[in-house]
Amino acid sequence: MNSELARSLPIGVFDSGVGGLTVLKALREALPAEDLVYLGDTARLPYGTKSPKSIERYACQATRLLQEQGIKLLVVACNTASAVALDALKAQMSPLPVIGVVEPGASAAVQAKPGGSHLVLATEATVRLGAYRRAIEHLDAAASVREHACEMLVSLAEEGWTDGEIATAIIRRYLDDASASASSPDSVILGCTHFPLLRDAIERCLEPGTTVVDSATTTAAVASRMLDETGLRSDGDTAGAIELLATDGATRFARVGGAFLGGKLDASDIRLVDL
Ligand code: DGL
Repeated sequence: MNSELARSLPIGVFDSGVGGLTVLKALREALPAEDLVYLGDTARLPYGTKSPKSIERYACQATRLLQEQGIKLLVVACNTASAVALDALKAQMSPLPVIGVVEPGASAAVQAKPGGSHLVLATEATVRLGAYRRAIEHLDAAASVREHACEMLVSLAEEGWTDGEIATAIIRRYLDDASASASSPDSVILGCTHFPLLRDAIERCLEPGTTVVDSATTTAAVASRMLDETGLRSDGDTAGAIELLATDGATRFARVGGAFLGGKLDASDIRLVDL
């Protein structure tokens, strides 16, 4: 592929559903001239409770569709897919680059609290694989890491119940279970695409001074650096386009996705695709 054509291609962003729109939003802010194509595998959400084998298969199929459409860089906005399938996706996309959200999130936490104790809130599959623990320990040997699966927070965010009594009670229950007899953490990492929507409610349940980290902004900064390193940054100076693809439920995608993207979406903004 000639380099001018490669630079003009969109960045592909993939998630199991609408949660990755928080990453898309950060990419739009960091890279306003880039075209972005987002694929949410809403037909098979949630990934977090599935086996690694199924998650990898789904992630590879979603990536294949984006590759066929033409992308220059893949951002895996899904924590679960990043934890399970990043190596497989890198092999499939090679020589084009792939970025996951786990390492940028781990790096943001380590920078915020060097040598600190970190609590990772994520899906079952992400916790089972210990991806955040490995990434943090690799960056900071003095850090300590606890990981806790919080599946119901995905449903709360999808339902739009991001505040109020029910959200608070469920968040408190997870935080109590995660802390058991341990002291309160220095940082809480939102290791799931959906949890930034519950950020305010989570912050209210934490000890004052606890840092809350989410990987969206750091991932966008890594993507920006990667475009420069690979010479793939767009030459354009006009605002880039956003294309939204989903595997099911355009109406629900628009309703729930609007909250994640921080704007209003219409079902006609979303193109349904088959993997
Ligand atoms: N996108 C997933 C993640 O970030 C959360 C939703 C799911 O389980 O598919 O881990």
